[in-house]
Amino acid sequence: VTESTSPKPSPHLAVHVDLGLRAYDVLIGRGLLRSMDVCLTARQLTGQTAIIADAADELGWSLQVLQGALSKPEISSFYIRLPGGESTKSMDNVVRLLSELAMAKVPRSGTVIGLGGGVMGDLAGFVAASYLRGVNFVQVPTTLLAMVDSSVGGKTGVNLPEGKNLVGAFHQPRLVVADLDTLKTLPAREFAAGLAEVIKYGAIKDKALFDRVARGVKPEDDDLEELVGKCVQIKARIVENDELETKGQRAVLNFGHTIGHAIEKATGYTTYLHGEAIALGMRAAAWLSRREAGLSQEDARDIDLALLANQLPVVLDRAVDSQAILDALAHDKKIASDGVNRWVLLSKLGEVQSGRVISSALAAQAVEYLRTRPDDL
Ligand SMILES: NC(=O)c1ccc[n+]([C@@H]2O[C@H](COP(=O)([O-])OP(=O)(O)OC[C@H]3O[C@@H](n4cnc5c(N)ncnc54)[C@H](O)[C@@H]3O)[C@@H](O)[C@H]2O)c1
Ligand SMILES: [Zn+2]
Repeated sequence: VTESTSPKPSPHLAVHVDLGLRAYDVLIGRGLLRSMDVCLTARQLTGQTAIIADAADELGWSLQVLQGALSKPEISSFYIRLPGGESTKSMDNVVRLLSELAMAKVPRSGTVIGLGGGVMGDLAGFVAASYLRGVNFVQVPTTLLAMVDSSVGGKTGVNLPEGKNLVGAFHQPRLVVADLDTLKTLPAREFAAGLAEVIKYGAIKDKALFDRVARGVKPEDDDLEELVGKCVQIKARIVENDELETKGQRAVLNFGHTIGHAIEKATGYTTYLHGEAIALGMRAAAWLSRREAGLSQEDARDIDLALLANQLPVVLDRAVDSQAILDALAHDKKIASDGVNRWVLLSKLGEVQSGRVISSALAAQAVEYLRTRPDDL
């Protein structure tokens, strides 16, 4: 047994995801990467470790800190860097990474660490799920979106030319380490996109969280750790009840995502970041919720205000064609198991109704509503 010389992890939050044999912790705090070796050895995640890292220049420092922490006799690590961005989530990269692990003779007891945003997490996670039928996986999310959403819950996968996330596996991580210091270099637009998901968690489950994020959140805010922790806790509780998305309980996480996904698809995933499309989708869903689920005008208006306070879009870009959005919705309907789109609506902030069916005509009106500016703002 070698004694570790690294510092104890700095003060942090830990959210436990209770999935029995697949249970794990999500650690959230500042400066956590420096004591990554302690976090890994405490969970017997020693031995050969492959870091699959986003090659963004801004993340070079994080990779260095991580490697420094892992240069311990009981851990032998190497890294592979890939450019960030959606096109990296490809089968070509899966094959390439699997070969790299095989060439490095990473054993069944080895660990894959994904360092980066949701793209790196999904790709590295899928590689970890398939290599030798599954090796240990550790998520080190470096975007706000990855911290509050993609790094928790075990969904991994890549895209096909035919569509997004068409290949994948459920493979829970053994540990998630969200070091908030990594967010210092994240572009403001990416940070805001992550906040759209934070607004979503507040809107569906936690009015106090909603009210806080509605005042606007900045990367340097003292309570960021707590805010991320609350989101992770909400997602963890939902995942615990519906790990493999068979009971429909994970569906509430799709608030704003029905129209949001259609907007992303209609714009070829180029005009809006995911969170920005979800911001628009939440505004449209709030409009539908007013008509169909009893949401008050004040609550709907508060959603507009929360989006605006966090530099998120509320009006659809003029160049975006409504028909293309409706076509994307119709396509989703066609591939849904029961031939209808299931909408997530709000009866009030913090209270959700899922599985709602909405007529195509009303959905079209909700899309048109996104052409209008919020009044008296
Ligand atoms: N598995 C899930 O449950 C789940 C849930 C939601 C989203 N996703 C997936 O997540 C992906 C989107 O994730 P994302 O928004 O994190 O995108 P991303 O991973 O592409 O990261 C966004 C951009 O930020 C850069 N970057 C990352 N960290 C940085 C940092 N700290 N400083 C500076 N730049 C940094 C990246 O290089 C990239 O250009 C999508 O592929 C989506 O399908 C998965
Ligand atoms: Zn989302």
